[in-house]
Amino acid sequence: MTEARQTLVLFGASGDLTHRKILPALYRLYQAGRLPASFRLFGYARSDLDDESFRRMADLAMAEYAEGYTESCPDFLDRMFYVRGDYDGGDGFDRLRERIQCDSCEAPNYYLALPPQAASKVVDAFASGRLPTDGARVLMEKPFGTDLASARHLNRQLQKYIKEEHIHRIDHYLAKDTVRNLLVFRFANVLFEPLWNRHYVDHIQVSATETIGVENRGGYYDGIGVVRDMLQNHVLLLLAFAAMEPPLANDSESIRDRTAEFLRSIDPPARRDFVFGQYEGYRDAPGVNPQSQTPTFAAVRLSIHNWRWHGVPVYLMSGKCLDERVSEVTFVFKDIPLHLLEDNNYTQMDPNVLSLRIHPSEGIRLSLGVKAPGYRDRVVPAALDFRYADLTSGLPSADRELFSGYERVLMEALAGRPGLAWRADAIESAWRVVAPILDEEDLTTNISLYVPGSAGADLAAGLLARDNRVWHRSEFE
Ligand code: BG6
Repeated sequence: MTEARQTLVLFGASGDLTHRKILPALYRLYQAGRLPASFRLFGYARSDLDDESFRRMADLAMAEYAEGYTESCPDFLDRMFYVRGDYDGGDGFDRLRERIQCDSCEAPNYYLALPPQAASKVVDAFASGRLPTDGARVLMEKPFGTDLASARHLNRQLQKYIKEEHIHRIDHYLAKDTVRNLLVFRFANVLFEPLWNRHYVDHIQVSATETIGVENRGGYYDGIGVVRDMLQNHVLLLLAFAAMEPPLANDSESIRDRTAEFLRSIDPPARRDFVFGQYEGYRDAPGVNPQSQTPTFAAVRLSIHNWRWHGVPVYLMSGKCLDERVSEVTFVFKDIPLHLLEDNNYTQMDPNVLSLRIHPSEGIRLSLGVKAPGYRDRVVPAALDFRYADLTSGLPSADRELFSGYERVLMEALAGRPGLAWRADAIESAWRVVAPILDEEDLTTNISLYVPGSAGADLAAGLLARDNRVWHRSEFE
């Protein structure tokens, strides 16, 4: 196993992501004994801080967001250092280099928790030699670039100085237990594979909707929007894991091969195959342009150009400020060949539906038709339900040590295992899929607004109605 590296250089160290996700995840790993003994964090950001005030800021952030952080942890905080600097050509990167070198850290892990523009400035600093790259690893937050051209450019730049296996294009969905379960569910069971194709599946729906708005992330989100923030990465990943071919083996390269191949097989959508919208009040959020045309909701209809799925439409949906927070993949199966049991309107046959719920109420639900109790042969819907929580509550605590997406992502990246990150070819294919949507976004001058709390199913309804379909709402409790 590769030796875990001890130094993490965190760009964007005073940002929201650092506070909410990265520091709490590092703290959990520290507590669980999963960080190397000599772990150190060098924060880099524009905020006017020094080591002491950075530690105070980290302490407050962890008190707010880290589970179990009930009192300050000096041993953990003392591992943190800070370098102030910008991304636009000041001497910040030089001071950072000196600080790392003084610390005799020969091969750091660079974590770019930055929006794409600032991230590309750091990559330029690798290219110009201002930051040492010898043996370094790079962890890059999504979105990786802002479109296909910029992602290609970033890939080419990075790969000149950093080995591909040292580049971690982060997507915390890749590390969620319930996302990994999509693969286990498919490849540990014989029941579904025979049905997993155009002969039995009518269509596939994937949703990742949220009830919250952009909150205080407007500065990052505006100009990025839902397609770059969610669809191009998290949502396409869910689809890929649910529909790709079986990997040759259960190793990360085989899984990444299949993911990349599947994404290559998706046809980019035509203009009539997507809709987007923006929630009312978005333009008043801090950091958002009052005339912003950035979409906060998108739904898209895709076709997959391969033998297994030809002719099976896929509907994707994601958005903020909607009526419910749900991430799930749903397979709606075809109708039965003959309705033998239909009887004077008494019998309403629903299609079989299989929902794989990522969160909340993580689980799997299969809806069936069964006989209603009583004299008549009437069919009523019923469901087979599996809840992830039932599984974990029975486990001894040692086996229950579930890590969140960010914790696992960091653990793997620090250990030098890139399996929980996007590979260069896959990320470029994902940008190719959403390219027409981004082009249209650029032209939009009058985006349609929706009321906060609207149902995503209603906003996407037109797209499905054209095909005589509706958005499926599963009833997980
Ligand atoms: C992040 C996006 O990657 O994922 C956020 O930047 C979004 O906008 C978040 O809220 C959703 O993640 P999760 O794990 O809550 O579904």
